Amino acid sequence: MRAIFTILCLLVSSSVFAQSAAHERLKVMQANPASLQAAIAAGKKASFFCANCHGEGGVAKTSDVPNLAGQHPTYLLEQIRKFGSGERIDAFMQGLIKVLSDDERAQIALYYSSVGVPPSVGDLALATRGKVLFERMCVRCHGADARGNALYPRLAGQQQPYLQKSITHYRDGTGVRNNPLMKIATAQLKNDDIVALSHYLTQLP
Ligand code: HEC
Ligand code: HEC
Repeated sequence: MRAIFTILCLLVSSSVFAQSAAHERLKVMQANPASLQAAIAAGKKASFFCANCHGEGGVAKTSDVPNLAGQHPTYLLEQIRKFGSGERIDAFMQGLIKVLSDDERAQIALYYSSVGVPPSVGDLALATRGKVLFERMCVRCHGADARGNALYPRLAGQQQPYLQKSITHYRDGTGVRNNPLMKIATAQLKNDDIVALSHYLTQLP
């Protein structure tokens, strides 16, 4: 079982890195501090339109829209790629993403990853239950602090309704969010487990 799991992880992670030209641009921009700072400044400018929904500095204006602040740049690029290819469904995002160049994608991802995200308030009793579930079922990928890395997104401080909606889509196989690891990880969750998990994650720093 563990061997199969490891192979699955490797397959998914290699596909994350192989794909987009924007990933290559990201690496070039990250290569030295001066090019990184220039990319972050360009990304801030290029994201002016995104701020209508994702907020100034990447903290969402409404809670069914995700925060982009503090998110890992590789994950952001991978989701932009998925919107572009139709592997992730959101009518507005799919249309919008097509107009961004590879450079703009990489710059925007670097900008959002450079700003911090403040934790939100969660229901305390639900969060306590969510913590137990998270530590049992999710930490091995998302990490004890849920701050993510190049392979797994940051969940700490994410908007509660957005978390609830996303986890439910993976579990139910609606086609909106597709990922084999998340499909397996969420298969056993009941609706109230998902509510508890999302209240736990939203209040993490
Ligand atoms: C009209 C509102 C709106 C605008 C403008 C907008 N977005 Fe989004 N964005 C959304 C919504 C809603 C979602 C969540 C879709 C879902 O439920 O899966 C989303 C999701 C995302 C995600 C996935 C985040 C995650 O945690 O998985 C990224 C990345 C993203 N948007 C980038 C951008 C960028 C870059 C721009 C500007 C070029 C932008 N968005 C403009 C509404 C918007
Ligand atoms: C085997 C590794 C693995 C495990 C275990 C796992 N995840 Fe994930 N998770 C991922 C990957 C990979 C992604 C990115 C998937 C994609 O591209 O849509 C992800 C994405 C997510 C997202 C979407 C974040 C966003 O910004 O849209 C949420 C929410 C999430 N996971 C919650 C959980 C919860 C809650 C658990 C435990 C019940 C869990 N995950 C267990 C690997 C894992």
